Amino acid sequence: MLQLNENYMKLKQSYLFAEIAHRVNDYVAANPDKKVIRLGIGDVTKPLPQKTIEAMHQAVSHMAYAETFKGYGPEQGYDFLRERVVEYYKKNGASITMKDVFISDGAKSDTGNITDLFGPDNIVLIPDPVYPVYMDTNMMNGRNIKFMDANKENGFTPMPYEGLEADIIYICSPNNPTGAAYTREQLKEWVDFALKNGSLLLFDAAYECFIEDPAIPHSIYEIEGAKKCAIEFCSLSKTAGFTGTRCGYTIVPTELVVKSSTGEDVSVNAMWTRRQTTKFNGVPYIVQYAAAATLSEEGIEQCKANIAYYKENAKIIASCFENKGITYFGGSNSPYIWFECPNNMESWDFFDYLLQNAQVVGTPGAGFGKNGNNFFRLTAFGDRDNTIEAVARIDKLLS
Ligand code: MLT
Repeated sequence: MLQLNENYMKLKQSYLFAEIAHRVNDYVAANPDKKVIRLGIGDVTKPLPQKTIEAMHQAVSHMAYAETFKGYGPEQGYDFLRERVVEYYKKNGASITMKDVFISDGAKSDTGNITDLFGPDNIVLIPDPVYPVYMDTNMMNGRNIKFMDANKENGFTPMPYEGLEADIIYICSPNNPTGAAYTREQLKEWVDFALKNGSLLLFDAAYECFIEDPAIPHSIYEIEGAKKCAIEFCSLSKTAGFTGTRCGYTIVPTELVVKSSTGEDVSVNAMWTRRQTTKFNGVPYIVQYAAAATLSEEGIEQCKANIAYYKENAKIIASCFENKGITYFGGSNSPYIWFECPNNMESWDFFDYLLQNAQVVGTPGAGFGKNGNNFFRLTAFGDRDNTIEAVARIDKLLS
């Protein structure tokens, strides 16, 4: 008899952002005259940088002529882009090689896909609250998940503690959803823990481009020893507006070697290569060509202008909570502002309250875990006028 993967039945009925979209669509259908401002999902609003667009047009032309046409590309990505990724890391003080770099269609897919490489009985440690993909993908595989509390008391940057047992540890810094970011010293503690205990760190750096504080590393590989115990995921989604274009990179260092059950040293890089060459045909040439131009000096400068715009939005939003004396996290080094719901409201109640009374959409903290129950997330990825208007509406509503 056909059997289902019944782990899917243990998941929440719908993915967080699908649930939000559903509620907002119902509201809009019932209130067609109201202007709704969406600061819920962290989706960018600024168009792709000029340098990216120009390269994309060129790549389209390449596909029009037999001499420059491209069919299947290398599953790990084209060398011209992998090389740019290596240079980008170098700028941030992290040394990786081209062999470590795998071009992907974004950090979301690979943070889930990577679970293919590890046995079912690993203890997976996930912070709560957390980007739902880490939890959902491990639940789909029926894994043993353990949560570590991220809360106001630890500044949403939980640390290893005496007696902690974990084989696979997810860290997202700057964090989605809380906006909190780990310092160099804190990350060193995690790397030391992983090296000592034979654990693997899965480091999501998707928001690294928002870091302005030099005490906060952009990459886990800025920490000594990390190449022996960490895989890093990053993406051009938030750095360069690729949420719809889809391009990211996963770093699996060749130094990362794990013992098999029979005591052999196994290269995780070789396993990931095997997995990708079997299950993935690579990111489209046109997208990779545009991504390489994006990571050129000129491209990076253009990205920085867009990032500066979002950072200004973040400041505008954060200042509203600052002025009201409402506890919040993020807003600097991050595009997310994570604040405590007023009057101890539960986050889904606050979601409805805000939508109905101010027509502003945010993301309820409960969607990211139990510790998010009284928190709410707003994103800085909106356009400026909408952000200012949303803040004015929130300010009025909470007066
Ligand atoms: C979010 O809003 O949390 C992000 O947009 C989700 C993502 O990057 O997949």
